[in-house]
Amino acid sequence: MTTDTAPRIIVPARWRIVGWIMLTVVVVLVAMIALTRNLLLVDVDRTANLNVAQEIEEFRTFAANGVDPTTSQPFTSVERMLEIFIDRQQPGESEQLLAIVGQRTHRAVGEMSDGAAAQGTVLPDNVELLDRILSSPNNSGIEDVAGGKLRWGRVEVVAGEGESGNLLVANYTAAGRERVGETIRTIGTVALIGLALTALIGWLVSGRILAPIRQVRMVAEGIGDNDLTSRVPARGRDDVAALARTFNAMLDRLENTWEVQRRFVDDAGHELRTPITVIRGHFDLLNLGAVDESERADTMRLIDDELSRMGRIVNDLLILAKAEQPNFVQPTPADVPALTLDIESKAQMLGDREWQLMEVAEGTAEVDTQRVTQAVLQLATNAVTHTQPGDTIQLGSSYVDTGGRRMLRLWVRDTGPGVAPEDIEQIFERFNRGHHVATENRPDRPGAGLGLSIVRAIADAHHGSAWVTSAFGDGATFGIDLPVIGPAETTRRDESQ
Ligand SMILES: Nc1ncnc2c1ncn2[C@@H]1O[C@H](COP(=O)(O)OP(=O)(O)OP(=O)(O)O)[C@@H](O)[C@H]1O
Ligand SMILES: [Mg+2]
Repeated sequence: MTTDTAPRIIVPARWRIVGWIMLTVVVVLVAMIALTRNLLLVDVDRTANLNVAQEIEEFRTFAANGVDPTTSQPFTSVERMLEIFIDRQQPGESEQLLAIVGQRTHRAVGEMSDGAAAQGTVLPDNVELLDRILSSPNNSGIEDVAGGKLRWGRVEVVAGEGESGNLLVANYTAAGRERVGETIRTIGTVALIGLALTALIGWLVSGRILAPIRQVRMVAEGIGDNDLTSRVPARGRDDVAALARTFNAMLDRLENTWEVQRRFVDDAGHELRTPITVIRGHFDLLNLGAVDESERADTMRLIDDELSRMGRIVNDLLILAKAEQPNFVQPTPADVPALTLDIESKAQMLGDREWQLMEVAEGTAEVDTQRVTQAVLQLATNAVTHTQPGDTIQLGSSYVDTGGRRMLRLWVRDTGPGVAPEDIEQIFERFNRGHHVATENRPDRPGAGLGLSIVRAIADAHHGSAWVTSAFGDGATFGIDLPVIGPAETTRRDESQ
């Protein structure tokens, strides 16, 4: 016997399903949030660049076309032009405009968040940074300042008399970046709620779907050796419900098999106990000396009868036990006329009856000839049992079509009492002898009720069937139908016998 080594730690399927869903959702959410953050930050930088470029462009236009508001003439001084331009500007958020002429700085600062404002104070005060920007050969650039980046653009204005100044446009991204941070935090919160909801729904749904599996397990655990009556409630139309139904069907079959086995063992025990009791009783009589010499021979004969009855029952039981095995029948192509004639000649040995061979099918059929002979001789034995010497018993073979399949039919008809309609269903069962026989209790019919079950087992093993038709009181016809594998054959009526 092999035993399965079950893993010590059992991870419930429900946990695993929820775990995998969560892992997938977390990976997707993290990737999505990271991507969104990057895109928003890129957007913040691009907007800052655009703003700087736009201010510079505006100044260029102003420098080319602007006039001094007090004189309505073009500007005469660089400082005045820068001052006027700065005064008129309304810098955007996080934006700073500086006009630098010599040591003097005019400044216009846009609306700034706290962080950006802190940075904004940096530029005019941070002399080193201002110098670096003013002496840069480029007219735009990016500088690292506390809390973020500073994007700047610069226009140098030179007047004819050697007077020069600079317009510096600075844009701080800290506020924008801060807003991106806020957006990401909001998305993150929503994602967390979504994650919790996903976990909850995953948990509930997988629990519902897997419930039948849990029940299958519980039912399987609860099944004892003698109780196969528990069933799993199977609702729904999905695979898991199908599993529950399959499991129930398996339990049905097991229960049925178990019930048949139990009845079989009960009946077998019962049937064997009777002859043993009879034999023991007779032995006791012999031992006690309660029988004289003439009765002694009778007693010995009775004991011998009972022993051979037991032997027959044991043999029949062995055949029925073998019928459960796959190689019970070994079909080979058989010559049907030869098989029929062989059976007829053997049947004649069973009793002094008027045996008539009515029809013989021709050709070959794929059957186990020994088992088929055994089955038909069982039918013939029953026919003999239920008739009187000199009565007519007919038999024959033919081909019939049942359910679209071509069958070889072997049959035996007698002129006995027939089978009561209520017995027809039962007499093929093991140890079932039919009502009228059982109640009659006729000593000349000492059967155990196994013959017809052997006939049926042989027919079943050939994927065929065993049957009876009878008008009660007017004889019975028993037969077996076996599928023919091979060319269609014709039936030849043979009335010569
Ligand atoms: N030809 C028949 N005519 C009338 N009844 C029959 C005939 N053959 C069988 N039966 C009924 O079917 C019952 C079961 O038959 P079956 O051959 O299985 O058992 P049995 O003949 O009683 O005992 P066994 O065959 O084990 O010696 C018989 O007891 C009888 O009631
Ligand atoms: Mg019989």
